Amino acid sequence: MELYASTPGVLFLTTAFLSYFLICFTNRLKLPESIPWAGLKSGVFKRQRAHLQEVFRGREYLAEGYNKFSKQGKAFAAPNFNFVPDIIVPPAYASAREGQLYFLSKYTYSHERLHRDTLEDNLARTQQIMRLPTLHTEVMDELVAALKDAWGSNNTEWTAVNPFETMFYVVSRSANRAFVSRELCRDDGFLEAVKAYVNSFATQGILIRFFIPELLKPLFGRLLAIPVHRRYRQLLDGYLVPLAQKLILQDDRGEETLAKWLQVAAQSHSDPEERTAEALAGQLASAEFAPLHTSTYSITDTLLDLLSAPQAESHLETLREEAQSLQGDPSQWTRAQVLHLELADSVIRESLRVTRTSGKAMLRRVVAKKGVLLPDGMRLPYGVYVGLSAESHIDGDYYDDPKEFRPWRFVPGAQKPFAAPRKMATTSPEFLSFGHGRHSCPGRFFVAQFLTALLACIARDYDIQPLLERPVGHSVSDLSTPPTDARILIRRRRD
Ligand SMILES: *[C@@H]1O[C@H](CO)[C@@H](O)[C@H](O)[C@H]1NC(C)=O
Repeated sequence: MELYASTPGVLFLTTAFLSYFLICFTNRLKLPESIPWAGLKSGVFKRQRAHLQEVFRGREYLAEGYNKFSKQGKAFAAPNFNFVPDIIVPPAYASAREGQLYFLSKYTYSHERLHRDTLEDNLARTQQIMRLPTLHTEVMDELVAALKDAWGSNNTEWTAVNPFETMFYVVSRSANRAFVSRELCRDDGFLEAVKAYVNSFATQGILIRFFIPELLKPLFGRLLAIPVHRRYRQLLDGYLVPLAQKLILQDDRGEETLAKWLQVAAQSHSDPEERTAEALAGQLASAEFAPLHTSTYSITDTLLDLLSAPQAESHLETLREEAQSLQGDPSQWTRAQVLHLELADSVIRESLRVTRTSGKAMLRRVVAKKGVLLPDGMRLPYGVYVGLSAESHIDGDYYDDPKEFRPWRFVPGAQKPFAAPRKMATTSPEFLSFGHGRHSCPGRFFVAQFLTALLACIARDYDIQPLLERPVGHSVSDLSTPPTDARILIRRRRD
């Protein structure tokens, strides 16, 4: 009976599955024949087989291609589960690329302008984002309060906390102190609305980007993006539009925030559309999806890497001593003091280096209809994604014992001749977490300053029990994220 009832379902699924592969199979972008491929095994349908297996072997393909081709200065095609290979270029091409950044999928952008930004609009926003580190005092104040709220102040008993969830809370509250306002960043309803929006933006974006064949994207891309747009509306109608209206009505008073700066900048825009509350709220919503997940992943991975390292206790003690060397309560730490936290900065950079959340870096889509010419004369077609392999992060030519997590690797004077001392936000071809070159992440100084201070506060104010094993996260294709359900045991230290 049950089998009978589910027959239409089974039939439907089978048909859907078969048509899906048929469409994937016939979907051929015209890539230059001369481009070499990574991940091919001999036999029939070798490209198709490589595409299918990419879900599990994405990293492996990128490593193979990096060593075989990138290091010889050649571009290669990396198979992709959606049957459209990405083109991975050698680092030397990084400045030669054109085209505009599409984060995952254009269908998930709820406001038109956000995926059609002109260079000038982009530049205007970038300038405001570059100013964020000046809001240091406000962010420190929020960080200290948020950490205490998230991890509690019980100094007699060990408490189990979920590092991912709690760090997401601290990151989003502190970032929003700088983005929107002191009042809103402490509003649980607002934080929930932000979380719902950025989560759906990321998951639906991944689904559309990787699992919907190009041909079906105009239809299914739009359908799958509906929940994103709904959450966008909830965030805007509930919080961001009212905030934007208030900012537009009031003159230059009020707290310094990204929201205020963007509003002031928009006033001089020639297009009246850009001066509306809706446009300002849209810009603010788009400020949310860049830093929240990335920063949460970084600090969670850093904690897990550190706590599962062989000398976890001593590493934590070293970080604690560094934090204690700064005068005063963390909420009073100055920007100059935080910039001196070289050990904390190094641990996070090292975790970003070894525990990469993505095997590809700086993916950009070719948006010129006639395609893009690579320096070697190869023409890449419209629509293909181009990027770099982050395999350089574990290249023995750049790093000693490249796969080992060495927390102090980037501290000045720590290691020669490889890996010159580097601050977290310094980009280079062998460190691509923030991209590299002219279009590297403009928020990286803000994020680096914030994460360094956060790690120092954690080490200063909490005991944490080391982990016997590194909890593994989730991975698909070349992407991996820290576990969302791990637990660590913490206890507030006595002041
Ligand atoms: C810490 O937690 C324990 C167990 O829940 C409780 O008995 C104790 O009162 C708490 N101490 C503080 C200072 O909150």
